[in-house]
Amino acid sequence: MAIQTVSSTPIPGQRPGTSGLRKKVSVFRQPHYLENFVQSLFDTLGGLAGKTLVLGGDGRFHNRSAIQTILKMAAANGVGRVLVGQGGILSTPAASCVIRKREALGGIVLSASHNPGGPDGDFGIKYNISNGGPAPESVTEAVYARSETINSYRISDAPDIDIDTVGTLLLEQMQVEVIDPVADYAELMQRLFDFDAIRKLFAGGFTMCFDAMHAVSGPYAKAIIEGMLGAPQGTVINAVPLEDFGGLHPDPNPVNAAQLIELMAGVDAPDFGAASDGDADRNMIVGRKFDVTPSDSLAVLAANATVAPGYRDGIKGIARSMPTSRAADRVAEALGVPCYETPTGWKYFGTLLDAGKATLCGEESYGTGSNHVREKDGLWAVLFWLNLIAVTGKSVQQIVASHWARFGRNYYSRHDYEGIDAGAANILMDDLRVKLANLAGQDMNHYTVAFADDFSYTDPVDGSQAHKQGVRIVMTDGSRIVYRLSGTGTEGATLRVYLERYEADPSMHNIPTQQALAALIAIADSVANIAANTGRSNPSVIT
Ligand code: G1P
Ligand code: ZN
Repeated sequence: MAIQTVSSTPIPGQRPGTSGLRKKVSVFRQPHYLENFVQSLFDTLGGLAGKTLVLGGDGRFHNRSAIQTILKMAAANGVGRVLVGQGGILSTPAASCVIRKREALGGIVLSASHNPGGPDGDFGIKYNISNGGPAPESVTEAVYARSETINSYRISDAPDIDIDTVGTLLLEQMQVEVIDPVADYAELMQRLFDFDAIRKLFAGGFTMCFDAMHAVSGPYAKAIIEGMLGAPQGTVINAVPLEDFGGLHPDPNPVNAAQLIELMAGVDAPDFGAASDGDADRNMIVGRKFDVTPSDSLAVLAANATVAPGYRDGIKGIARSMPTSRAADRVAEALGVPCYETPTGWKYFGTLLDAGKATLCGEESYGTGSNHVREKDGLWAVLFWLNLIAVTGKSVQQIVASHWARFGRNYYSRHDYEGIDAGAANILMDDLRVKLANLAGQDMNHYTVAFADDFSYTDPVDGSQAHKQGVRIVMTDGSRIVYRLSGTGTEGATLRVYLERYEADPSMHNIPTQQALAALIAIADSVANIAANTGRSNPSVIT
């Protein structure tokens, strides 16, 4: 075994987006592509001697091979120890949990989240820092800058090592500890939630379907929901992680988790349905014939947080991404705690959680989490709902309806125009930005614009700033339209249009969502000339 220094040249485009570097598998398989990025990361981190890193991924195609490459590079770069999930598996929240619990320097998570997998699908790599959360932009930008000047990388020529057996091995001078990917995470969940109450719920005949979408939440949900909580075998479906997610799109929303939605709408629907994405950080909550929007889920959990032992002392604050509905703001106000509005992406929650300013966080994109780790956490949200149902004895629909009755309802929807021409998408956004200054005061389709801007953020903890985080048009009654371009896609561009309207009157809480938002949808289309600019008369996905 020897350490090789391999000459390389910069490969353009290695700038991480909303959540790490995400590209087609074919891009990652180009010679030196992964190696250049990993070496850029190691060079940026520096001082790796004697340090511990955590390594794992969502099990998608290319995961195992990338793990071997990264292990050999870590050994060649003097890392002291790597904790790697057995079989190369670690869900994103479990990686965050392990980094924190084992006091690692950080971790490398291999995932393209909810993007499709397989040889023609997507792959991704993300670095998380010692708090367990995604690296802030200062780090990701430094890695990117390094990738633009890199001229060599270091790698051991050792043969592949066994990552399928729990135990400790030596690779060059580096220890490789293959760990059970579920154990630390399951132990944390047990401390946060009332497992006795949930066990009683299942023992009393409560039924549930958890759709793991052939992705990484499968082993976690099996071990916790069926194993520790005693739900019947078969409660978790599509539980075995597959390299191509069974050819499906592992994104837990009503469009992609159609199997679950159909089941929940049927006559024999279970009491409770849930799904999680590729790397298990997203969640969708479904009642019988009733889907819960992620924004409402955050608000409901915040309003009822004290039912769970881990949050018995109450919450210090809530943080939500800017496009997420303001349902949580009303709860924060009632609880007398602050609600922070951050740019899109979990990385912006880290400082608030570390500083103890926020306890719960959420995004409209099926992401919910808390200060227990520094990532969003799909199964955590599902266990929180189970805890809530077990304590209140109410159905999902009853819980949400009584929440709306108390706080009012924030009708909410996101319209995605996927795979549009990137040039056209940028023109649309630039045109919108030009229009912003003149929108305030204009009357549009029963609404009057209160203000319009391009969202900028100053982190209240470290003062760092983020600009151009989404164009928002806010009406005098608080209704909003937000436009932004996705930072996670790998083909063309995706325009996201977020729509929100508040309704206090309980007699108006059962209008179909798209109907309730129809006037705003029409305004959104005409202000941005969506049809003309994108050539699409309808969104490709509505959630
Ligand atoms: C999307 C979501 C965002 C989430 C991110 C990672 O990013 O919109 O809320 O944090 O995935 O899961 P986008 O593609 O919009 O940049
Ligand atoms: Zn994800």
